[in-house]
Amino acid sequence: MSGNGDRLVQLGRRRFLGAAGAGAVASALGPGATRAGASGPDPAITEVQDWARSLGDGVAVRPYGKPSTFEKHVIRRDVEWLTASRESSVSFTPLHQLDGVITPSGLCFERHHAGIAEIDPAKHRLMINGLVERQMVYTLEDLKRFPGRVNRVHFLECVANSGMEWRGAQLNGCQFTHGMVHNVMYTGVPLKTLLEHCGVRANGKWVLAEGGDASTMTRSLPLEKALKDCLVVWAMNGEALRPEQGYPLRLAVPGWEGNMWVKWLRRIEIGDQPWHQREETSKYTDLLADGRARRFTWIMDAKSVVTNPSPQAPIRHKGPAVLSGIAWSGRGAIQRVDVTLDGGRNWRHARIDGSALPLSLVRFYAEFDWNGEELLVQSRAIDDTGYVQPTKDELRKVRGTNSIYHNNGIQTWLVRTSGETENVEIS
Ligand code: MTE
Ligand code: CO
Repeated sequence: MSGNGDRLVQLGRRRFLGAAGAGAVASALGPGATRAGASGPDPAITEVQDWARSLGDGVAVRPYGKPSTFEKHVIRRDVEWLTASRESSVSFTPLHQLDGVITPSGLCFERHHAGIAEIDPAKHRLMINGLVERQMVYTLEDLKRFPGRVNRVHFLECVANSGMEWRGAQLNGCQFTHGMVHNVMYTGVPLKTLLEHCGVRANGKWVLAEGGDASTMTRSLPLEKALKDCLVVWAMNGEALRPEQGYPLRLAVPGWEGNMWVKWLRRIEIGDQPWHQREETSKYTDLLADGRARRFTWIMDAKSVVTNPSPQAPIRHKGPAVLSGIAWSGRGAIQRVDVTLDGGRNWRHARIDGSALPLSLVRFYAEFDWNGEELLVQSRAIDDTGYVQPTKDELRKVRGTNSIYHNNGIQTWLVRTSGETENVEIS
């Protein structure tokens, strides 16, 4: 492989999605590459366009705004062969088409175990029972009258994100390899406030969260976490939760496995030990090489991915290029992101721009000149606990190859001389 010396490059095994052809590398002029007068008059400049000849839609013709029709390719996508049904399945966030740190509500990946529950908020209740002084049933209106409402930006990552990649490069696109993550602003009340209202008994040490959908999703979490930063939320990005994200009520468990963020939240029970539900025993545990399984691996370790370039977003121009990506950590704030264009021989610090909040996505950029050479692009996140995102080989050394969950290994994209980009692994 020219340009990559003796690196062993394994191409993605399953290329079910061809990268949109990179097309001819247009011009070496750099950004804004059409020079006035370069090749005759440009009709985009010299002609009156259709949209300037007549009046457009008036106000409130579109009472709820939608993206431009020219953006209709920016959508959640699923992978048909991945699951047996659409009701227990996943759709992926189009990370390569987004920027900044906030995921638009309509593009947040979805993971349902029994489809979307369409809940009438007037009929929805949250019950708190078990080891409490006062068992309570709240309506949504009751919850909205609690003092101490908060707004917090947090990432939610499904613990199965990148799970298909454990045994080698598999899916050709960061939407599919890393798209089970979203980052929105939540509004709600701290779970602590509600638990104080009910009065947790001295022997209460564990919290069970239960969903109101047909899967009755249930997970145990330690009381300590519930009191620390968990939220009972009813809004995302300033408006009511979307049905896909648990309307009218969901639990937020910042930095921890997405599975614990119970949607359509209907009940919280306090107990003195974990319940060992299906989703914390046969599922969401990590089988090691020796047959033992890790359990209660709640925290999502630091991770990052370059979203541009990537297989669905090849490089189309020589000259100045902007590498962009996202990083996050369930242990705190991202402190630094390193990027390499040559498979790890040389690393440089990426530029983190915008807010770098703890337990939230951060956006990074690294500007470079592309001269049409082959690249092996990687990013590596470091959080404020000093944790460094591992390589996939390092992960496998500790965890073996039986795992699905908690794959936070460094992703490699091979950019070919045409600009087309592929999911590969290097060792
Ligand atoms: N809560 C309920 N009630 N039912 C579910 O199927 N799926 C869980 C979690 N909470 C689920 C649930 C899983 S596995 C994940 S990763 C997240 O919700 C996904 O949240 P999202 O659909 O908002 O992306
Ligand atoms: Co999940």
